[in-house]
Amino acid sequence: MVTQPLVDGALDALVDAGLDVELVSSGGPPAPEELRRAASGADAIVCLLSDRIDEALLDAASPGLRVVANVAVGVDNIDLDAARRHGVAVCNTPGVLDAATADLTMALLLAVTRRVVEGMDLIRHGRWSGFSTADSLGRDLTGMRLGIVGFGGIGSRVAARASGFDMVVAHHARHPTGAPGYVADLDELLAGSDAVSLHVPLTPETRHLLDARRLSLLPRGAVVVNTARGAVIDEAALIGALESGQVGGAGLDVFDGEPHVNPALLASPHVVCTPHIGSATTSTRRAMCDLAVQGVLAVLGGRAHPHLVVAPGNGPRPGR
Ligand code: GLV
Repeated sequence: MVTQPLVDGALDALVDAGLDVELVSSGGPPAPEELRRAASGADAIVCLLSDRIDEALLDAASPGLRVVANVAVGVDNIDLDAARRHGVAVCNTPGVLDAATADLTMALLLAVTRRVVEGMDLIRHGRWSGFSTADSLGRDLTGMRLGIVGFGGIGSRVAARASGFDMVVAHHARHPTGAPGYVADLDELLAGSDAVSLHVPLTPETRHLLDARRLSLLPRGAVVVNTARGAVIDEAALIGALESGQVGGAGLDVFDGEPHVNPALLASPHVVCTPHIGSATTSTRRAMCDLAVQGVLAVLGGRAHPHLVVAPGNGPRPGR
């Protein structure tokens, strides 16, 4: 069962392996009851991050379901404990999207600091009266202190790119990284960051990691960039901090409750929003779809796979 369309050709490997492929929705996430209907009888599910794979769905798919392959690195849309209980393997697509997501992070950082979207609006609405020395002034990335929260594949690539822009780069992770610029205390990192960029998965521990208290630690006017998951930031607190000027601008690719975006974010001239496109390049999306399909074939074929978030057969199969 494939919940939503993948990139062209990505399903060929499943078909070539002799599997019957059912595409549940030809556009947009299927409704939960539609997902449950389609999941019953499926051996494998290929899903997107906008599909909720919860206990009810896993129940409906039991006892046949063996693997859920998420075309994403983040797996917060999947109830991993329930998958373990059902003995269902879960795999994801890390690594292949690191560069693309790091690129978008830099794009958002530049768009906010150099007021790119405001400038486009000026031109589009016929309000640009010509070159001036005092209009549309932004901030230099050179010398700006960037605090990176989370230092996996994406965070470390952001660090490399930001260093190329002559930013002063530091990072925080739960465990020492051994890389230059490691700061053990998140609060300390934030207090010394003119811009902060989030690269942690959404888990119960990271939900609202950037809350009102932590936003208040940033130097006044700091920039916030989020290409991780919307709920890593307390959006209400971010909106308050933007309104007070404590946060000077935000570049956001992800939103709590997306695709809904809080209108207060859209109304702010200091916010640049993109529609969850961190990994959206042709080659990256192809690689993600291929990796998810490989995960399905490996688990169904009883072979090892490098990106198992939940190993196969980790628990009793209800009904078996
Ligand atoms: C995208 O957000 C992903 O998790 O791959």
